[in-house]
Amino acid sequence: MGIDHVQLDRDRIWHPFTQQQAWCEEEPLMIERSEGSYLIDSDGRRYIDGVSSLWCNVHGHRHPGIDAAIAAQLEKVAHSTMLGLSHPAGVELADRLVEIAPPGLSRVFYSESGSTAVEIALKMAFQYQQQRGGQHARRTSFIHLRDSYHGDTIGSVSVGGIDLFHSTYRPLLFPTHAVEPGDAEDLERVLSLHEEEIAAVIVEPLVQGAAGMLTHPPGYLRQVRELCDAFGVLLICDEVATGFGRTGTMFACEQEDVVPDLLCVAKGLTGGYLPLAATLSSELIYEGFLGAPDEYRTFFHGHTYTGNPLACAAALASLDAFEQERTLERLQPKVALLWELLGDVERMSEVSEVRGRGVMVGIDLGPHDPALRLGHRVTLEARERGAIVRPLGDVVVLMPPLSISERELRTLVEIVADSIRAAWSSAYASAAPLVRAA
Ligand SMILES: Cc1ncc(COP(=O)(O)O)c(C=O)c1O
Repeated sequence: MGIDHVQLDRDRIWHPFTQQQAWCEEEPLMIERSEGSYLIDSDGRRYIDGVSSLWCNVHGHRHPGIDAAIAAQLEKVAHSTMLGLSHPAGVELADRLVEIAPPGLSRVFYSESGSTAVEIALKMAFQYQQQRGGQHARRTSFIHLRDSYHGDTIGSVSVGGIDLFHSTYRPLLFPTHAVEPGDAEDLERVLSLHEEEIAAVIVEPLVQGAAGMLTHPPGYLRQVRELCDAFGVLLICDEVATGFGRTGTMFACEQEDVVPDLLCVAKGLTGGYLPLAATLSSELIYEGFLGAPDEYRTFFHGHTYTGNPLACAAALASLDAFEQERTLERLQPKVALLWELLGDVERMSEVSEVRGRGVMVGIDLGPHDPALRLGHRVTLEARERGAIVRPLGDVVVLMPPLSISERELRTLVEIVADSIRAAWSSAYASAAPLVRAA
């Protein structure tokens, strides 16, 4: 008798960001295979991967180049530590990352997730200021944007601003200062008030993903950089979501000619294949950690799987694919098509706003009574029609792989529009006339 995976899931798995009580009442979808822009379930049904497997798939699933690179690395070594040893894939990848990153970022520190890339940037900024000494040692706090999301570890949550996710943990967090996203004057005000205690400002450049694809006004990121310089504060850009082409350029920072002091990348780094993250730093910060061993300026941080060779091989192959397949160049007409199609979606009476940049899209249906679970209903309706999407509350997120074809893109937007209509009808079936929550 075969294994009943659905029952086993209900009996054994605790899913992330999931109310298990509701989960166990629904039929879970078991993804067994994949191909290009499609995920395939255990019954052989195909679904367009409309959120790139949580915002990380870049060149599609089962990409021949990435598959082959992982297999080739497997023939050599699957894992060897970066603590006290090194390996070719890790150093080659670091060099490639420095080549494509905003100029001036010259050192690469590996970890495995977006949360840890941010955690590391915060610790680096803090320790750097401590080691500069004098009045800089008082720089122990951080500024972040309201509604920011930088991951789920305690440091990342401390600079997070999404109450639904973060408020429970407040007593565990270190104190920070929150400023209004997109408002440079507010940042200037807070910097002026707390000038001498701020180690760094952290931002998600251009688009705040988990906040519901909130976008900043043009020029804001540049102003943030200028203010950080004026107040002698470090700038950390978290490109975990925006990096590797999502906003139309390799990194979002490029669009405003901004070079952060620390850059966090993860998700799309391996093309969406394996867990790998990197925190890139300026040479100045790196040099601040140099000294004799007994000066104890070492960065005492490192995970067991830091810089895993299989993941580095996947990342190298993903960067090759960017070059060989001219991924960013070929993305531009698709971005234009996507936003043309979204124009029709925004005109739907069920939609209040469509936001985003490049292939990062939030279709806002709100506000609604949370009990209606409108966003979740859209997910279920889309599944019936052959697409996987995952909402943030009542914001339907679309974030397809950069490799999606124009035909698949049209199908995806059509499915989502139909699913929104169907979800709305089912949610309000018993309530006539249809009225939105205040
Ligand atoms: C901007 C940003 N930073 C950090 C993270 C955390 O990344 P991870 O889930 O890999 O820890 C995310 C995840 O969505 C993110 O969007």
